[in-house]
Amino acid sequence: MKMIITGAAGFIGSNLTKELLKLDYEIVAIDNFSTGSADNLSPVKDHPKLTTITCNVQDHASWGDKAAEGDIIFHLAATVGVKKVFSNSHDTFTNNLDGMTAVLEVAHKKKCKVFFASTSEVYGQSKGVPFAETDPLSAYTTNEGRSAYVISKMANEVSCLNYHNLKGVPVIIARLFNVIGRGQRKEFGMVVPTFIDAALSGNPLTLYGDGLQTRGFCNVKDFLTAVIALIQEPKAWGDVYNIGQNITTTIEELAGYIIKVSNSKSELLYTKLPPERIGKIEIYSRQPNIEKIRALTGWSPIISWQTSVNEILTELHAKSHPVDSI
Ligand SMILES: NC(=O)c1ccc[n+]([C@@H]2O[C@H](COP(=O)([O-])OP(=O)(O)OC[C@H]3O[C@@H](n4cnc5c(N)ncnc54)[C@H](O)[C@@H]3O)[C@@H](O)[C@H]2O)c1
Repeated sequence: MKMIITGAAGFIGSNLTKELLKLDYEIVAIDNFSTGSADNLSPVKDHPKLTTITCNVQDHASWGDKAAEGDIIFHLAATVGVKKVFSNSHDTFTNNLDGMTAVLEVAHKKKCKVFFASTSEVYGQSKGVPFAETDPLSAYTTNEGRSAYVISKMANEVSCLNYHNLKGVPVIIARLFNVIGRGQRKEFGMVVPTFIDAALSGNPLTLYGDGLQTRGFCNVKDFLTAVIALIQEPKAWGDVYNIGQNITTTIEELAGYIIKVSNSKSELLYTKLPPERIGKIEIYSRQPNIEKIRALTGWSPIISWQTSVNEILTELHAKSHPVDSI
């Protein structure tokens, strides 16, 4: 059985590639390097069980022939990041919709399974915190740039379930809540590497609004344990699961912690929301209910957000101060 990973050069995709190679799977890694980086895969680039294909996932003629019956396609390729999504609404939408269709078509034709990375953003402004899989979904108003991401992910979920229910393609839909860890980049608006970079440079850490938004930060290692538990559980296929850290923190507490552990002189700067986060489109509280995956597989996260922050801090500090380390 092969594992085919779209978005394999990205933050999560590269971590998944490395983990599955450790488990001795043969991997086909697909990426167009739009936000991913060759560096992420460099530790395994010469691994005999890894085949890397540089292409758009939509271009299934370039990779579909690698898929065979029983393989799992992990579909992680997507346009991500608040800033990128806001400035590329149309490309985000078409990239995410067309990519999913290509994956499901290949899976159907070649009798593969599909693991799809959806997002907690599909819960939108739902008041029922913590969010459970049975809660209603909601999106922003359609003329706000960020809606392209969340609406495309909702549509992707519907496509997955249609292919499962009508065409017999086994699918798992995972709703990811803020996965963090080594290798995550700040360029597209990810909060933890952005704060750490500011703290290490002595720049202010910018908080939007009152900074009391809550988030649960799940270490990518915990995320990978959840993925492996789900794909190994026959009853998991054909359903939707939250994966995330259910112990949350406020963005203000996160910023204060980063300043403290990095011995930084940076200050907190409270500002109004930037255009891509204005008004009702900022999701205030985001916490997963993880009872469903826990009941099925026994999984729950074991790494605290503080430990995850410390890991990323050590990595970023080593990059910016190669001879010195925290
Ligand atoms: N990191 C999180 O906290 C989080 C939260 C919710 C959902 N997700 C989902 O998990 C997946 C991975 O996210 P990530 O944080 O690793 O982001 P990432 O940007 O690091 O990874 C996405 C990868 O997809 C590639 N890609 C994009 N469009 C492509 C295309 N058309 N063809 C081929 N490759 C393409 C990019 O180059 C990149 O390597 C995404 O689908 C994202 O929506 C992530």
